[in-house]
Amino acid sequence: MRIGVLTGGGDCPGLNAVIRAIVRKGAGVHGHEFLGYRDGWRGPLEGDGGPLGVPEVRGILPRGGTILGSSRTNPMSGDGPKRVAENLEAAEVDGLIAIGGEDTLGAASRLHSEHGIPIVGVPKTIDNDLGATDYTFGFDTAVNIAMEAIDRLHTTADSHHRVLIVEVMGRHAGWIAFHAGLAGGANVILIPEQAFDIEKVCELVGRRFASRFAPIVVVAEGAEPVGGVPARDEAPADAFGHVRLGGIGHWLEGEIERRTGKEARATVLGHVQRGGTPTAFDRVLATRFGLHAIEAAHAGRWGTMVALRGIEIELVSLAEATAQLKTVPKELYQEAEVFFG
Ligand code: F6P
Repeated sequence: MRIGVLTGGGDCPGLNAVIRAIVRKGAGVHGHEFLGYRDGWRGPLEGDGGPLGVPEVRGILPRGGTILGSSRTNPMSGDGPKRVAENLEAAEVDGLIAIGGEDTLGAASRLHSEHGIPIVGVPKTIDNDLGATDYTFGFDTAVNIAMEAIDRLHTTADSHHRVLIVEVMGRHAGWIAFHAGLAGGANVILIPEQAFDIEKVCELVGRRFASRFAPIVVVAEGAEPVGGVPARDEAPADAFGHVRLGGIGHWLEGEIERRTGKEARATVLGHVQRGGTPTAFDRVLATRFGLHAIEAAHAGRWGTMVALRGIEIELVSLAEATAQLKTVPKELYQEAEVFFG
């Protein structure tokens, strides 16, 4: 078989580990050939790909980013699906393995169900917000990076008697904020799933100062106060209609300072959370996803996605996997509240 591979959406630690596993097993065990498409869906849309063999994937396991490049190109606009189908046929590609998050796999699901394009999906995102899989790879690395930042900020907060706010990514899901905040001993964790009361946040800040320690507030980029969104940093929407989030950390800085009289400073972790080498957990998960994805393609199980269920890797339908976002349940969030303040 000749199989196309692409990585779409935000880059994520572990992408190279998936590519390596697909090629090592696909070429080494089954004798398949691979075409590495460049920059996500832009590759098959424009017929931009190159050979991807065992020599190309040697040494990439610990490397962050993606050797194939990525983009947020949406293949569903205009005559995109037709162009993808024609380019796959011209390159004699029997099927695609698409590694991506909500948007990349949402497009994969529609290209398969509406246009009959043979695709297997692999779930990646630091946001961990894809349904049908217990974890996506990249999340563990992002959480560890954010946790280390929180550990470091505790010492500065205590030394200067300041409120330090850490804004983390995650889009409309609070997984990174929740896990990093719990692991890092944050005194307040604010997530998009639970609108927060700024008065209550200030009360928790005051309680922490009363203990002679200074507070760390972890806020997800998508979190909002009760009653509405404060002014966010202005940015255009991407090809999938997502506006760029960010700015809530600095908004909190001003509000907390004004209401408590304590100095408050925000650190926005941004892309630091997506960069660099993956943790062992993410390397193993990404590798296992790659091994199972190539098996699914080999068996012609198109329209499916590999998913982690407990310790097993299972195949689920792409449609099911992309039907709804996985967000932080209220009961889970409440478990962390005992540490607030
Ligand atoms: O989906 C991963 C993610 O890092 C989100 O957490 C974040 O909102 C978004 O991508 C940022 O995307 P970009 O790097 O394109 O601005």
